[in-house]
Amino acid sequence: MSIYIHIPFCTQICSYCDFPKVLKNEKLIDKYLISLEKEIQEKYKNEVVSTLYIGGGTPTSLSLKQLTTLFKIIEKINLSKDAEVTIEANTEDLTIEKLKLLKKYVNRLSIGIQTFNATRLKELNRKININNLKNAFKHFDNINIDLMYGFKSQTILDLKEDLEKIIKLKPAHISTYSLIIEPNTLFYINKYNKIDEDLDRKMYDHIIKVLKQNGYNHYEISNFAKEKFESRHNLVYWNNENYYGFGLGASGYLKNTRYENTRSLTNYLNGKYIMNKHKLTQNETIQNEFMLGFRKVNGINKIEFKEKYNINIDDIKEIKELLKLNLLLENQTNIYINPNYLYTSNEILIRLIDLDAGLC
Ligand SMILES: C[S@@+](CC[C@H](N)C(=O)[O-])C[C@H]1O[C@@H](n2cnc3c(N)ncnc32)[C@H](O)[C@@H]1O
Ligand code: SF4
Repeated sequence: MSIYIHIPFCTQICSYCDFPKVLKNEKLIDKYLISLEKEIQEKYKNEVVSTLYIGGGTPTSLSLKQLTTLFKIIEKINLSKDAEVTIEANTEDLTIEKLKLLKKYVNRLSIGIQTFNATRLKELNRKININNLKNAFKHFDNINIDLMYGFKSQTILDLKEDLEKIIKLKPAHISTYSLIIEPNTLFYINKYNKIDEDLDRKMYDHIIKVLKQNGYNHYEISNFAKEKFESRHNLVYWNNENYYGFGLGASGYLKNTRYENTRSLTNYLNGKYIMNKHKLTQNETIQNEFMLGFRKVNGINKIEFKEKYNINIDDIKEIKELLKLNLLLENQTNIYINPNYLYTSNEILIRLIDLDAGLC
């Protein structure tokens, strides 16, 4: 079993962000932690948990006392001995005191950098504390860095500078994000323009080339890791496995049912956690298996697919067609997206949405 816990508080609101989050407020955080504890008590059935991900928002924006309360809640979770426990962090929060506290409870940090460029950071309404960032690397050896690209007026040279600075830190994992202009964000309201698609593609290819040259394994469309440092938690999502989602706006997948928690903080604090629930048909489960599984560069294992669904994956009509078109490729064990089409993988995945796995 895996668990995602959402902490929706941030010290500042970034111009691009549409995640469930609010500006931090001491009283609200205290109430939130009470509600979170209740939600976990109500739903969690004490299964052994091998990956736990505390995301946000910015979990590290909580005070030392509040983080201690959060970890007391988490202590009741039955974590396996070798569990991967990740917390998302922003550098402004990572004081030595917080790093020492985090070190007792988590073994992986995911730090949002986005860019080191000062002008761009201003546009994004973000800050970086370089001293704290360096200290984080002294305390943890399993760190992910989030890098964003595709900003208005960004050049490949700007991207190279960001990449060089990140590589110099030697993080175990790097997640890359091409900027999306989401409705309900300052960027959307201000009609912020993205770079054109050709340049975005060049940036994607450049990232892959540089990170591969520096010993990172490109294992998911936008994710890169040193050997054995792939995100075990994210692999649970991409392998279409079960997980609980606790907290505002969190989603979960249990016993063939996907559920989504409310994004209304008022409802959440009043104990109305779940917004919607949907039991999946076999076809929907297989569609999800494809949507998620083909995000992995190695794609889907044929034997594991047969064991899960009692269907040969290459008997499925849509898969056969994509193989014929060379959009999907196969080797002895796996079927995967042709690397030349990873950038446009959504266009391939969309063809698998209406499949009928019964009609092979
Ligand atoms: C939910 S955020 C939380 C992490 C942390 N609060 C932070 O700011 O780094 C996770 C990551 O999603 C990415 N992200 C969020 N909004 C995005 C957007 N509109 N376009 C592209 N990437 C986005 C950012 O790289 C961010 O680090
Ligand atoms: S990107 Fe992170 S820090 Fe910025 S508003 Fe979103 S969750 Fe908060």
